[in-house]
Amino acid sequence: MTKQDLVAFAHKLPKAELHLHIEGSLEPEMMFALARRNNVDLPFKTLEEVRNAYAFSNLQDFLDIYYQGMSVLQTEEDFFDLTMAYLNRVRADNVRHAEIFFDPQGHTERGVPFDTAISGILTALQMARAQFGMTAKLIMCFLRHLPEEDAFTTLRQAEPWLDRIEAVGLDSSEVGHPPSKFERVFAAARESGLKLVAHAGEEGPPEYVREALDLLKIDRLDHGNRSLEDEALTARLREEQMTLTVCPLSNLKLCVVDDMTAHPLKRMLDLGLKATVNSDDPAYFGGYVMDNFAAVIAALNLDAEDIRTLARNSFEGAFLSGGEKRAQLAAIDAVLP
Ligand code: ADE
Ligand code: ZN
Repeated sequence: MTKQDLVAFAHKLPKAELHLHIEGSLEPEMMFALARRNNVDLPFKTLEEVRNAYAFSNLQDFLDIYYQGMSVLQTEEDFFDLTMAYLNRVRADNVRHAEIFFDPQGHTERGVPFDTAISGILTALQMARAQFGMTAKLIMCFLRHLPEEDAFTTLRQAEPWLDRIEAVGLDSSEVGHPPSKFERVFAAARESGLKLVAHAGEEGPPEYVREALDLLKIDRLDHGNRSLEDEALTARLREEQMTLTVCPLSNLKLCVVDDMTAHPLKRMLDLGLKATVNSDDPAYFGGYVMDNFAAVIAALNLDAEDIRTLARNSFEGAFLSGGEKRAQLAAIDAVLP
């Protein structure tokens, strides 16, 4: 199959997106529109100025711009519009299910109530389900550069919403903020019946991935790239069939890899790791799920079975019921290359 045929095949396959920060789907056009609507001053005057600012040499460079960008999100309607725009966009990529991160502390810190953010997001998730049958789950992330006590405050704010939150996650500046810092709040979230995920091994060392497994007891690993530096850890991830939510264009933009041809996705699949393809922060990193598939297809030696495996992994690693997964997997197996 040509690379073009592989991209067409990837497009046809039903897919789940498991690593998407909803605040990272804020496109520059919407950023300007919401800034105008809410009278927020932005340091950019034109779309070109925004795009020029999106040149990052590491995770922290990006995070500084990302937190600044979310300042335009103020009302429930803003969160609804943001979420609806993402769901409509990935519907075109044949994403049938999305597990969406949000960063409540990025909003409560600025005086936007927890309930404002989550209400707007949840209304959009319900509407997408009713209007076009896309399913979605919500993952509440703790910002790891803040103290664990602040994460406990966030978990308390989430109490009235726990039946509509699937999992907690851990994101923001990785190095210097190991998973061990959040062991107690993850235990409390587990006690509340929430699933657990964490960013680890994006910039941080393999030891952070071990901590996420052993101390946080995660159900799914976000990124995980640097696990490959440690053979025993890699073997463990394979044995446990731990899902890795890999984000190729993010890795390129944040200089986790120097070049897409050096991306470890194909190596992960060949090692028997349960890798998936995701967009992370599509408005900042150059594209949505299908842009990520197109980028790895162009750069790596992936074949049609690799592409099918990636689509299957996305549902196997999702927090869906057994029946829901079986239905999606059967639909994937019915698509011919
Ligand atoms: N927040 C949004 N995107 C992130 C990423 N790729 N890593 C850590 N924190 C994030
Ligand atoms: Zn992320």
